[in-house]
Amino acid sequence: MNSNRQAVDRFLHDHDMHPEAVSIDETVRHMTEEMEQGLAGQPSSLAMIPTYIDTERSVPVGEKAVVLDAGGTNLRAALVSFQEDGSPIIEDFSKRPMPGTQGTVVGKEEFFSSLAALVEPLASRANTVGFCFSYPTEILPNRDGRLIHWSKEIQAPEVEGCLVGAQLQNALVERGIKEVPPVTVLNDTVATLLTGKAASVGRDWGAYVGFILGTGTNTCYVESNDSIAKAQGLASGGQQVINCESGSFACRHRGTADVMLGETTSKPETYWLEKMLSGGYFGALATQVMKLAGDKGLLSLPLKEQLARFGEISTKDADNYTHNPQGTNNDLVSLLQSSGSNADAERTWFLMDALLERAARLTAANLAAPVLKGQSGKGPLAPACLTVDGTTYYRYYRFESRVEALLRPYLAERDHYYETVRVEDAPLIGAAVAALTN
Ligand code: BGC
Repeated sequence: MNSNRQAVDRFLHDHDMHPEAVSIDETVRHMTEEMEQGLAGQPSSLAMIPTYIDTERSVPVGEKAVVLDAGGTNLRAALVSFQEDGSPIIEDFSKRPMPGTQGTVVGKEEFFSSLAALVEPLASRANTVGFCFSYPTEILPNRDGRLIHWSKEIQAPEVEGCLVGAQLQNALVERGIKEVPPVTVLNDTVATLLTGKAASVGRDWGAYVGFILGTGTNTCYVESNDSIAKAQGLASGGQQVINCESGSFACRHRGTADVMLGETTSKPETYWLEKMLSGGYFGALATQVMKLAGDKGLLSLPLKEQLARFGEISTKDADNYTHNPQGTNNDLVSLLQSSGSNADAERTWFLMDALLERAARLTAANLAAPVLKGQSGKGPLAPACLTVDGTTYYRYYRFESRVEALLRPYLAERDHYYETVRVEDAPLIGAAVAALTN
């Protein structure tokens, strides 16, 4: 075996960061336990949030919804309607940076006013608003949502605890809108699940799972009301989508660099799984791994010294390095070319690749748990519809094929099958489905 690979393997094992240390089965079992505890209202790292969204209603043809999508990077708005065959029409699309992501703290009024500014020009052209809000948010039976706390390092602390639908409506009134439409708040994974379902009209799937790997990561699935012991008054025999908030999973496979990264974040004890793999943190994690590798003598002294001056490696550069270790426009490549040896360059490649392999294993477990836990049909004739969104999932080096190679055999051994559905603009389309059907 390549001696640099051997050195990297030893280093990763010594610091509990090796992908092989992640057992998919053990992670799925642990996650399933946490899902059950979350549904029962017992202490759990998984919030398991009821959404009050029923997936059984059909989408009306030709009716418009205003949609607002508050994601980890962008804030986007549009008008969305659907044609006979389920295909969406998106009109009057606009976007701006998500408030609270630009390095300064944003107050509550400014936050909701920025949201209302995008919705205002569309508000009179539809009777309903679908608000895709991609943060841990308790959903109320009237489908407004209370932000539990921010994830993804958003800097707008006054918004925590607010009812985001009602606050958006207030901000629209402030802007002189007389008839403010009702607002349905939903998570982006839920929007993704609904989009996958709408995109495959007529197909009877065995189960539905929505999954995002972008700035953050999360899953949702369809659960029977009878299993949601913590929510009162749900119709027995019914079902609804549950937002797992699986990015917050208290993963047992956290290693030294994960803990180091946690210490640099605003809430070190939260969102452990997300910080191990999502696009919002991967560069920061790669930076900690390189720092640790420098300190432990896996990388040369000149490189270690340059790394200390370099600051943070971006997610894009860390991932692109595995795609092309000679790539231009990559600060990590330039750094290695100016200060690193050939061994440093190879070791860095093996380190980045190992972090991605570990991310793929954790992602396979994150997907398998809701497929197995949900109302799944078994066998190849009732596959789960696994709708996957998030640029990171499709961009990370060989990521889709790594996840596929792990997930398919794992589920097939348990007589569960799935198809992956990829849909464009899932948060916008799913938010429209939710607003028009619930
Ligand atoms: C949020 C989730 C969201 C996920 C993907 C996480 O940080 O807490 O609500 O679904 O990111 O965007």
